Amino acid sequence: MKIAIFGANGPTGRILTRQVLDAGHAVAAVTRNPGEFPLDAPGLTVVGADVYNSEEVERVVAGQDAVLSTLGVPYGRQPIRVYSEGTGNIMRAMTRHGVRRLVCVSSSATDPAAGPHGGIFFSKVLQPLITNLLGRTLYEDMRRMEAAVAESGLEWTIMRPSGLFETESVTDYRMAVDYLNGTFTSRTDLADSMLRQLSSSEYVRKVAAVATFDQKPSLIRMIAREASSKKSAPDRTFEGDPS
Ligand SMILES: NC(=O)c1ccc[n+]([C@@H]2O[C@H](COP(=O)([O-])OP(=O)(O)OC[C@H]3O[C@@H](n4cnc5c(N)ncnc54)[C@H](OP(=O)(O)O)[C@@H]3O)[C@@H](O)[C@H]2O)c1
Repeated sequence: MKIAIFGANGPTGRILTRQVLDAGHAVAAVTRNPGEFPLDAPGLTVVGADVYNSEEVERVVAGQDAVLSTLGVPYGRQPIRVYSEGTGNIMRAMTRHGVRRLVCVSSSATDPAAGPHGGIFFSKVLQPLITNLLGRTLYEDMRRMEAAVAESGLEWTIMRPSGLFETESVTDYRMAVDYLNGTFTSRTDLADSMLRQLSSSEYVRKVAAVATFDQKPSLIRMIAREASSKKSAPDRTFEGDPS
């Protein structure tokens, strides 16, 4: 198959690109910085495009069999719109060019009412801190993206991982419709779960929770990294945003 991967140059996107190539597909890896993309392999085309630019997005999407998106930005106080607007541009291009299958990454934090993600300290203290304070603007935009994807008429799957961390290889991770009580998801597992959607209809038009249970990272280190990363790469603000 011919697969476009948005967010291909991010930590999950790079793993996903490798896995999709290894599975024998042709990949258009989308990044704003093609010169920095670390992979070079038969079947790989690295494409420079910004998801805010609908013409660039359309050029990538035309002729693909499916689109995978690991697009993301760090937490920030400013309103975030890359998930909703970027994925909106991707979906419009897909509709125009008859590309039906979309698998995009959201987060388990978009739906706090679904259930806890860990023990009492995590669900009562850390989870509210992450969803209502550190990540409030990000999760607001993910919810806008999820709503638009669900309305799109495409053959979509929304992936909801929990806190991302690294494992050396794919573990015995779990998936479920809508919700899993898991605090963490390995990026390698998330990538594998997305790759599997290309050959399965089990989660078409469904939200897929994906979580890793065999290994776990240091929670404090993860939160510190997420909190500090917002200074390094702020998302664009809404037009006219005074802040
Ligand atoms: N971190 C967590 O614990 C966590 C938990 C749950 C869900 N998630 C979600 O999981 C996904 C993957 O996360 P990740 O940490 O692997 O990746 P990431 O660092 O959030 O970002 C992925 C890539 O998105 C691309 N991107 C951002 N804005 C873009 C734009 N305007 N146009 C084109 N590309 C753009 C960037 O690539 P270029 O700069 O190369 O263009 C970036 O490397 C994200 O959606 C994230 O929100 C993360």
